[in-house]
Amino acid sequence: MSLDIESIRADFPILSRKVAGGKDLVYLDNAATTQKPQVVIDAMTRYYEQSNANVHRAVHTLAAEATEQYEAARDTLASWFGTTRDNLIFTSGTTEAINLVAWGWARSNLGAGDAVVITEMEHHADIVPWQLLAEEKGIEIRVVPIDTDQDTLDMEIFSASLSGAKLVCVVHTSNVLGVANPVADIISQSHAAGAKVLIDAAQAAPHERIDFEGMGADFVAISGHKMCGPTGIGCLLATTGCIEEMEPFMSGGDMIETVTMEKSTFASGPQKFEAGTPKIAEAIGFAAAADYLSKLDMEAVHRHIRGLATYTANELKSVHGITVYGDHSVADGSGVVSFLHDTIHAEDLARFMDAGGFAMRTGHHCAQPLLDAYGVTSTNRVSFYLYNTQQEASAFVEHLRYIVDKFGG
Ligand code: ALA
Repeated sequence: MSLDIESIRADFPILSRKVAGGKDLVYLDNAATTQKPQVVIDAMTRYYEQSNANVHRAVHTLAAEATEQYEAARDTLASWFGTTRDNLIFTSGTTEAINLVAWGWARSNLGAGDAVVITEMEHHADIVPWQLLAEEKGIEIRVVPIDTDQDTLDMEIFSASLSGAKLVCVVHTSNVLGVANPVADIISQSHAAGAKVLIDAAQAAPHERIDFEGMGADFVAISGHKMCGPTGIGCLLATTGCIEEMEPFMSGGDMIETVTMEKSTFASGPQKFEAGTPKIAEAIGFAAAADYLSKLDMEAVHRHIRGLATYTANELKSVHGITVYGDHSVADGSGVVSFLHDTIHAEDLARFMDAGGFAMRTGHHCAQPLLDAYGVTSTNRVSFYLYNTQQEASAFVEHLRYIVDKFGG
């Protein structure tokens, strides 16, 4: 099945707005956050207009509706991610999901001398929590480097670093290079070595079905806002065994069974990790986003964004002074293309492109160790999603050529 991009575009109201003095918006910053279809906006508005109340507490009509919608959102998302409601913990996003593994599972299950394997390709969200935990608990952190000639993880060093490791934390798809890691191999090697596995799927879930049970990871972290959902919501998928081994991270109301002034006991399952009033409208919006994606052919979505990225990377390579990062000749990966001009500063280039209506990202992309490996401190990055067109990709390349001709020396 192919995608009807024009009809998809009509679902996203923001795509018809003008920027930069009347130019058409060409939104190419989807790895940072995607735009939201009307059905997501409507689902959240409907909740606030019709059913707004707190959940899991009162018996009145609105409270029952809110609870029913919040828990139905969990069912929808669990099914979309190939698991059950007992294995899906709502978080504020990928960052909180990874912190939940660090502070909820690793803090009580790892001790001095235990090793956690991470990689140079990780987002800061999958580096900093481990550094903080290592300082507190005396945990050893082993870092798998990137082979910058191949733009892949050095899998020989990966295999060699597994001996005695207790946890392996790997990004599914890089937010800078766009490359996808060999997740099945990483999980099977890690399990054979006795380590649990956390996969950061923030950049994969938007265009690939995540089948948690089929994948076989112990933990998977996902953000809603990178897959058409609202900001402030995501989830941690975790096996039942791991959930049973986890201690509370945040505590307070809604995560307890009983509280006395001496001691508290906790709810079981996901609720133990969802303290306080949850992100109700956001969970409903996240489920509406999964419903929206479920009506599309996700393999076609993947091929579409990968095709735009490959086209753009190939064109940019022929622009004088541009270096492109990542291997875009492979079918796996995402819609991300990072690049840098050798004399036009990344931020200046982004401002020139913005003046033409093109939204792209600059900076270290919260992945400073990865950029260090390539010897740069910042890149420009475009990232495509399901509503981007070939005309937009071509117009982007054409405008960039014009800027480089004018300012590239
Ligand atoms: N991690 C997000 C990005 O890559 C924000 O832009």
